[in-house]
Amino acid sequence: MSRLSQTLSRLTQYTLASCLIAGGVFTSAAAQAARVTVTVDGIQTTDGAILAGLFDSAASFPQKYVQGRSSVAKTPSVTLTFENVAPGRYAMSAFHDRNGNGKLDTGAFGIPTEPLGFSRGARAIMGPPSFADAAFDVPAEGLSLVIHLNEKAPTAAQRNATERFWAALHGADYAAYPAALAAVQAALVESPQDPVQNAHLGWLHIWHLSEAGSFAATPQDMGADLTSATRSFQRAVELAPDEARYLGFLATTLFLESAVNSDAAASRRAEATMARAVQMWPEFNLFTAGYIHSSDPFDSPQYATAMQQMWQDLDVCAGQPVSREHPGFAKPPVQTNVGHQRACWNSSIAPHNFEGFFLNFGDMLVKQGDIASARAMYANARLSATYAEWAYRDVLERRITDAEANVAVFRNSAGSSEGEAHMMVQSNFSCMACHRGSRSAST
Ligand code: HEC
Repeated sequence: MSRLSQTLSRLTQYTLASCLIAGGVFTSAAAQAARVTVTVDGIQTTDGAILAGLFDSAASFPQKYVQGRSSVAKTPSVTLTFENVAPGRYAMSAFHDRNGNGKLDTGAFGIPTEPLGFSRGARAIMGPPSFADAAFDVPAEGLSLVIHLNEKAPTAAQRNATERFWAALHGADYAAYPAALAAVQAALVESPQDPVQNAHLGWLHIWHLSEAGSFAATPQDMGADLTSATRSFQRAVELAPDEARYLGFLATTLFLESAVNSDAAASRRAEATMARAVQMWPEFNLFTAGYIHSSDPFDSPQYATAMQQMWQDLDVCAGQPVSREHPGFAKPPVQTNVGHQRACWNSSIAPHNFEGFFLNFGDMLVKQGDIASARAMYANARLSATYAEWAYRDVLERRITDAEANVAVFRNSAGSSEGEAHMMVQSNFSCMACHRGSRSAST
């Protein structure tokens, strides 16, 4: 085995051995119990979890930690505390498990595609640093340290872009859109290889396109949005091939382009890309896949597939097959904010994902003509703990009342406009239904 592949396989082992930390807290039976706190800095997004491991020897570093800690990700930093650490020499590693799969993802040549850092600013170059490079001494009175992810804090432009991006999206702040767009573009001029900013640029364009009514976008704008979104997601996928969310949105934009061009071969390629994305992260991409076809004619084969994908998404999220006849939940299944299952719930990224999912699903069932199931499906949204704060609560309640009348409305609607004459996917809240923050925060 070459030195390169050795170091890379070490890196991969490190990943597997040290990172399934969730809940796994090991404490040594040390007589002297020092406390070590670490501030993990340079966190750019709030998705997934921050995982850190404490290692006590060169032999175990960075594969087998003596203690591991985790936290949900917060920007720009989180602090983790290790208790009962016996005084001595240690090294620490931390990374941002952005997709919540419990491991450090790697791309081409085994290079990590998730932000990673080590104590004492030691760097991973062709594999992890040595224990000696990252080592520090823990005295009996304990110690605080800082780990910068990727050994590089975000630039001012990146911080500004991230802040403006989320403020616009969560605030449903259409007026702030141009400034958010400019900030992300500015960050990319400086850091063109940043997958997050590339993806955010794609999302800004797809938001502008999807809610064209709210943005008063012209057909020319929409064409340009689609081209830019496709290019941005393409770059993001190249830079972070394991990010199934980027791949799912790339498939969406590729599919839209193929539809615009009436290109059947391109459409099949887009569907193949989507199938790959679904395989990588079903909880997220079954929705992405079905959503795009929920505007198709109710009697088309595409619509039937989209319906199936929504049911499958519900099954994988519920952890068991959900009755097709009585799809109402008595109470919500167990929630989580880590791992792939997190895409089933509300989070800081999608504060009303749960409600939005059921609003769309109800709409799809109405368009199919299945009124009873639609009403039960809509009603599931009420199980959310934050249903009362959801900006589209009244829309959903009216949908339950108007379900019969809406069959014809949804079957005949085309394009997007103000008001409620359209299914969610064609409405001016097709993104905001899930991503807009609570009413009090956004009005
Ligand atoms: C059914 C609800 C739903 C709809 C509709 C929806 N999303 Fe999302 N979105 C989610 C969920 C769930 C996630 C993943 C959250 C996670 O990673 O934990 C997500 C992830 C994202 C992210 C990830 C950002 C990051 O860096 O972590 C962005 C940006 C985004 N969506 C934008 C949009 C836009 C723009 C639209 C409209 C075209 C849209 N979404 C439609 C639920 C939704």
